[in-house]
Amino acid sequence: MGLASGLPSLVPSAAFGEPFTLGVACGDPDPGGFVAWTRLAPQPLAEDGFGGMPADPVPVHWQVSSDPAGRNVVRHGVYVASRAWAHSVHVEVTGLRPGREYWYRFKAGPYVSPAGRALTAPVPGTMPRSLRVAVCSCANYQHGHFTAYARMARERPDLIVHLGDYIYEQGSDHVALPGGNVRAHEGPEAVTLAGYRRRHALYKTDPDLREAHAAAPWAAILDDHEVVNNWTSLIPAQRREAAFRAYYEHMPLRSPARPGSTAVQLYRRLRWGRLATLHMLDTRQYRDPHLCGAGYSSCPTPADPARTMIGLDQENWLLRGFRRSQARWELVGQQVFFGQRDRDPGQGRLVRQDAWDGYTGSRQRVTEGWVKAGVRNVVVLTGDVHAHWAGDLVLDYDDPGSHPVGAELAVTSVASGGDGHDDDPATDPLLAANPHLKFHLRRRGYLMVLVTPGALTADFMTVPYVSTPGAAALTAATFTLSDLVDGLHRQA
Ligand SMILES: [Fe+2]
Repeated sequence: MGLASGLPSLVPSAAFGEPFTLGVACGDPDPGGFVAWTRLAPQPLAEDGFGGMPADPVPVHWQVSSDPAGRNVVRHGVYVASRAWAHSVHVEVTGLRPGREYWYRFKAGPYVSPAGRALTAPVPGTMPRSLRVAVCSCANYQHGHFTAYARMARERPDLIVHLGDYIYEQGSDHVALPGGNVRAHEGPEAVTLAGYRRRHALYKTDPDLREAHAAAPWAAILDDHEVVNNWTSLIPAQRREAAFRAYYEHMPLRSPARPGSTAVQLYRRLRWGRLATLHMLDTRQYRDPHLCGAGYSSCPTPADPARTMIGLDQENWLLRGFRRSQARWELVGQQVFFGQRDRDPGQGRLVRQDAWDGYTGSRQRVTEGWVKAGVRNVVVLTGDVHAHWAGDLVLDYDDPGSHPVGAELAVTSVASGGDGHDDDPATDPLLAANPHLKFHLRRRGYLMVLVTPGALTADFMTVPYVSTPGAAALTAATFTLSDLVDGLHRQA
């Protein structure tokens, strides 16, 4: 059955106009399926946050096909979209074949959505030949065009990992770029549920963002700006709940991420056969408050072993995952800088308190945990810092002879910070003061990671400008990690 011949709608089709203004998305693939997402919003920026939809529930027909044109339909059904969830649709598709490409689309009333491309994960226990992951973070709409999203989409990766700051909460009056903002948010700072819904909807009206969602499955996690800058557990519960609800409503997430009576669980694992396991961490919900503010400080980190970045439950879950994993590559997707980044060129220490540098006991337990578990290769994928970074991870950052036990690849922003600029690596004080750090570049872009059984290759992609649309993507640097050979190597 195609979507053209659906069941009659509960709501007459004249009740709303073209509803697929926010595009389609899919996420969290497993061997049997994925989450297929859309949201009905004929007027995406409607003041009340309901997207111009009537109050009634609306049946949304969905289908998954093995061909892009949607002729060979392999799964289909009806999902009733309700006003309580802003007429969002989260279909957890099951029963598909592993390691395959699929396409999905929706129909509401007489309207048919564009098609999205999905993939299922490989057969558990098998060793796939490769996994191509695009990694990104930090897309401040006011700071620039989402060119990096469009370039990423054209790579047709197997997976897009989004590490947070998918939206920014600030109002249109918040100008952070020296030359003024490139474009404006739709209104004041997002604080209420309606405000967060409108902000998410504004972002999805961007065609480059919609293209990136339609091109590949995503694994997404939020950071601070989906709620408010540098938030911790001290932020009021009502605001946090509104932000989390709007995030779930606009992302292809599975049901544990759905706000309900229990905590919202965003940390999770995705497996790509025996080739790679992706551990997605939540460094926001369970962390202890900052001790010396969120910024750079020489404030000594207390030795209190109970102080935590990810909470003890999540930490145990992560360490258990390391002990049980049989993957060739352990990828850890998370928000804030993991390795030490010391801005003090001398003996002192000047580190960012919002990052793992403000939670050194937690960092040490996680690092020692994977070392003790005998994990084969660990690569931490990081967002937040609005610059590309490549660095080795070590057990003792104060010992220049400390051997690499993993690597960190931090991805720059999609748009946050504007066009950016090139630093001279020869005079970069951060590289000089931190010998484990190998690369630093303050341009916008994304990261392309090719994982194979024998090596992991990371292309640091940049776009030369975001102040106007249309820039081409360039490979600024390529680093490789060979299986069982510690440490990052830059390719000539
Ligand atoms: Fe950011």
